[in-house]
Amino acid sequence: MSTIDSASLQPAPRQIPAIEHTAISGMDAYRALVAEAETDHQAFWARLAREHLQWRRPFTKILDDSNAPFYKWFEDGELNASYNCLDRNLAKGLADKTAIVFEADDGTVTRITYQALYHRVCRLANALRARGVTRGDRVVIYMPMSIEGIAAMLACARIGAPHSVVFGGFSAKSLHERLVNVGAVAVMTADEQVRGGKTLPLKAIVDEALAMGGTVAVKTVVVYRRTGGRIPWITQRDAWLHELEHAQSDTCEPEWVGAEHPLFVLYTSGSTGAPKGVQHSTGGYLLWAAVTMKWTFDIKPDDVFWCTADIGWITGHTYICYGPTAVGATQVIFEGVPTYPDAGRFWQMIERHKVSIFYTAPTAIRSLIKAADANEAVHPRSFDLSSLRILGTVGEPINPSAWTWYAQHVGGGRCPVLDTFWQTETGGHMISPLPGVTPLVPGSCTLPMPGIDAAIVDETGHEVPNGHGGVLVIRKPWPSMIRTIWGNPERFRHGYYPDDLGGKLYLAGDGAIRDRDTGYFTITGRIDDVLNVSGHRLGTMEIESALSAHPSVAEAAVVGRPDETCGEAIVAFVVLKTARPSGPDAKRVADELRAWVGKEIGPIAKPKDIRFGDAMPKTRSGKVVRRLLRSVAKGEAITQDTSSVENPTVISQFAHGL
Ligand code: WT7
Repeated sequence: MSTIDSASLQPAPRQIPAIEHTAISGMDAYRALVAEAETDHQAFWARLAREHLQWRRPFTKILDDSNAPFYKWFEDGELNASYNCLDRNLAKGLADKTAIVFEADDGTVTRITYQALYHRVCRLANALRARGVTRGDRVVIYMPMSIEGIAAMLACARIGAPHSVVFGGFSAKSLHERLVNVGAVAVMTADEQVRGGKTLPLKAIVDEALAMGGTVAVKTVVVYRRTGGRIPWITQRDAWLHELEHAQSDTCEPEWVGAEHPLFVLYTSGSTGAPKGVQHSTGGYLLWAAVTMKWTFDIKPDDVFWCTADIGWITGHTYICYGPTAVGATQVIFEGVPTYPDAGRFWQMIERHKVSIFYTAPTAIRSLIKAADANEAVHPRSFDLSSLRILGTVGEPINPSAWTWYAQHVGGGRCPVLDTFWQTETGGHMISPLPGVTPLVPGSCTLPMPGIDAAIVDETGHEVPNGHGGVLVIRKPWPSMIRTIWGNPERFRHGYYPDDLGGKLYLAGDGAIRDRDTGYFTITGRIDDVLNVSGHRLGTMEIESALSAHPSVAEAAVVGRPDETCGEAIVAFVVLKTARPSGPDAKRVADELRAWVGKEIGPIAKPKDIRFGDAMPKTRSGKVVRRLLRSVAKGEAITQDTSSVENPTVISQFAHGL
């Protein structure tokens, strides 16, 4: 574990523009909630769970920590997530309220009310049941951003079938790996996906994955017709979503499940081994999705919320599928990419749909800054963004200059910018400013949410003083936390509650530092071999094994290099079984390897830079000297002592890019 240790140099917190009547009214109200949670952690969470969720059967137990770290929350309570996200809104009189405004890649807009969404979800849930999918069965969803994708997730929740959404950018091989690991009985997909004017054959990829074997449990493939393009079809197994829906009743009795019933499994990368299926619960997860919509985003009845994530990531689960619907909000969802037809798309959409709360990734902001600098027509000031009142970011650290640009040019100086820190495993926000409440510092995620006991510790698990870097941990369990890794409880325990920290602290996997004066947190980046490329998490080991699987590769090592736009860029060091290529030959091999990784994992994992050498630089005991490779990747002159390196001459071979 490496930590940084530096004096704190944060600028003084800025006062922020006042917002009227926020859910948490001010710093005093924030402190009162923190104190309430400190005084009686369990009573605090029980109160929230009673106020923010509708229970079929009220819980009598709050937290069961007898088998820590396999915590259980509200265990004997019963509820249904789709009921809370749909039926409850109808009962509140929101039937005619727009639930989702969908903007397609080509700009076509489709709206759906809560009433209509409810009926679609019910029909789909009935159709899944009719196809034999029952409580506890797993359904893989490999769908584009669409109303249908969200309906698919909620339909699974309605019948108690945990879903596992796989991002549409993953390859057939990655999809196959997840289908097998989760033991899916059904797949929901689309004929094709449309992004940036291009189509991607999702259904054909599903067929390819299912033909790889080991997926015998999959009896049904439900296909949403997005483009009408030609696709392969297996009559017994495949069914059109619209035909299934048409044949079903538009109401559906929900499956009442215990609060700990798994709502979904979402795969994410770790530092070692295959992707891990992060398992979330129904009650605890949904609670925090709803509460953070109110506390962090201050969602109000008239707000138009837009989170630009994809349903394939946790942000799309919590702040597209579950959070906004649990609180009866109106939200915008978008099929395309921020740069199509041009880099003004986000700003144009905010203007068009009068978005008031906008949540996106630093990587998108950075690329749009570049584009705006080059072309006034796509600069946010060329659009009417006066509907905005709150801005947020997520996924990676945001550099103060991008933060400031976002606040100034998108927020017009009126809107707070919330740098929200959290993870797939945490279910929802962990450390984040509250709008109109927390004085902001660009680049800092500021203070933990009430009830979240975050701290920074050293390698032995002892808290470090403010101003000293260390590793971020969460000391007390919280309801929306990961329950286990699907099929691998030991990996969960060792990975997240490591013995060297005493076994009782949740290890986030990030380094962090707190400001000496304010106690504000700044995340300094991953402490393990996980890269963050454009806000996407990728394990270096995963990319290395993909490269090593290529028939001409003898050995590969992958490191990250700081990148202006993507945050981190992937650099691969490769030793071929044949002689080291040079000139056009090297370029040809590199292109082939890049395409290979795209096939093995998905386009997001393609290395930006590939270097070749005669051998991997290793210590005498055979360990690849990664620290050295990181310096080489950055183009730094090697000033480190290389006397322990077995074969120092190869370093200069790797130093030259193509
Ligand atoms: C990792 C989690 C949470 C949804 C998207 C990513 C990094 C996330 C921040 C932030 C600095 C951040 C961390 C974290 N990260 N948000 N505001 N500031 N770093 O979810 O794929 O599970 O990745 O993203 O490194 O551990 P994820």
